[in-house]
Amino acid sequence: MNTRLVAARVLSRVLQDGQSLTAALDNAFLTIDSGKDRAFIQALCYGVCRQYHRLDFILSQLLDKPLKDADVKALALVGLYQLKFMRVKPHAAVSETVLAARKKPWAKSLLNAVLRTYLREQEGLEHKADKCQVAALSHPDWLIKQIEQDWPEQALTILQENNQQPPMVLRVNLAKTSSEHYLQLLGEQDIAAEVVGFCPSAIKLEKPVPVDSLPGFADGLVSVQDTAAQLAAGLLDLQPGQRVLDVCAAPGGKAAHILESQAQLKELVAVDIDESRMRRVSENLQRLGLQAKLVVGDAANPSSWWDGKPFDRILLDAPCSALGVIRRHPDIKLLRRAEDIGQLQVLQKSILHAIWPLLAPGGLLLYATCSILKQENEQQVQAFLAEHNDAVELPLFPNSGSGTAIPCSEAADWGTAGVCGRQILTGESAMDGFYYARIGKQ
Ligand SMILES: C[S@@+](CC[C@H](N)C(=O)[O-])C[C@H]1O[C@@H](n2cnc3c(N)ncnc32)[C@H](O)[C@@H]1O
Repeated sequence: MNTRLVAARVLSRVLQDGQSLTAALDNAFLTIDSGKDRAFIQALCYGVCRQYHRLDFILSQLLDKPLKDADVKALALVGLYQLKFMRVKPHAAVSETVLAARKKPWAKSLLNAVLRTYLREQEGLEHKADKCQVAALSHPDWLIKQIEQDWPEQALTILQENNQQPPMVLRVNLAKTSSEHYLQLLGEQDIAAEVVGFCPSAIKLEKPVPVDSLPGFADGLVSVQDTAAQLAAGLLDLQPGQRVLDVCAAPGGKAAHILESQAQLKELVAVDIDESRMRRVSENLQRLGLQAKLVVGDAANPSSWWDGKPFDRILLDAPCSALGVIRRHPDIKLLRRAEDIGQLQVLQKSILHAIWPLLAPGGLLLYATCSILKQENEQQVQAFLAEHNDAVELPLFPNSGSGTAIPCSEAADWGTAGVCGRQILTGESAMDGFYYARIGKQ
């Protein structure tokens, strides 16, 4: 097995067939047992997606005409990525990459020429790439423009953060242990980490580790979840006896956190339209020893699954562009299209409107996305508030007006206040890009 060839095939599933990188990698790993090989393939695939626009620009400078063969193009990108970004010896990177194309003799000589020319002309080619915005920032043009339009002052930082490797953050199950105690357990395994001050359940690791090496993982002592996502449960201000609806729940990270945060809820109903993703909710809850009512259903059509009993709390973690989590899923830069944003906005609106009647008077709906675009976030909530007389925006901070105190963000000053809600921009306090707004029902 040639690891470079496997990486190239995974990448062409993404580039040519529009498959997600996670799905394509999972599929490739079915036949690969070696942890070392898996790590190398993963590093190549994530790296090429992260740097795709830069590598593609450089490749175009090295070719007379575009490469039609998707696997060979992916191999060329894999080769260039090793030469520019990895500590692989150049001669090994070239020879192994060329070898990966042994079944296509024409491609062997082409790859050899491309990679050797790159090595000879590297300085000039990289300089040219630095002068081209799409290559220098390694993002598609439409996305650079969109981010610049929404966040003119922060755009460059956001774009640079999108290309970084994110930290691995753990959510300590505070129903079972404390962050301090868990930090001690990590220390005993020589895993360097720190507690995230403003979110009591969050621990940030200095370096990512395999989940199996986390003490007590199988017993549900911890889960992997970014700090930004861990703010949701606290913002819901959960109280004993409440009925809670998590309306786009899979794979269940926030649902589990809700149940860990308040053991005396009357019920948590978790809904998702995707049956296979719903199975992951079930697995996650099982590992953590938690229980919820799981419903496969369309959130935009509650009449097909709602029992008519109102909820005290609703979490709508809406389907979105996921532009706040590009650093975790760099293939989003390759797969997302400008026209998706408007379609997602329509879907978010339809779900928000459909579930509002399910909230009891005096109840609270938390609207969340892992997007940084205003269209999906503050503009969405602003329009909703304008159309619903019984909806009122509640503060996200205890000192910003009336409203209940919220444990998770009491001591925090995270995010940026907008027209409504609060936006965390990618990389802020090492977090993913996230948006939260709390809407109360009168
Ligand atoms: C951002 S993810 C939710 C993440 C989840 N809340 C968590 O913390 O693990 C959005 C989810 O919305 C689901 N979804 C999309 N359209 C939906 C619909 N019309 N009804 C219900 N779920 C939907 C997707 O299947 C996806 O699992």
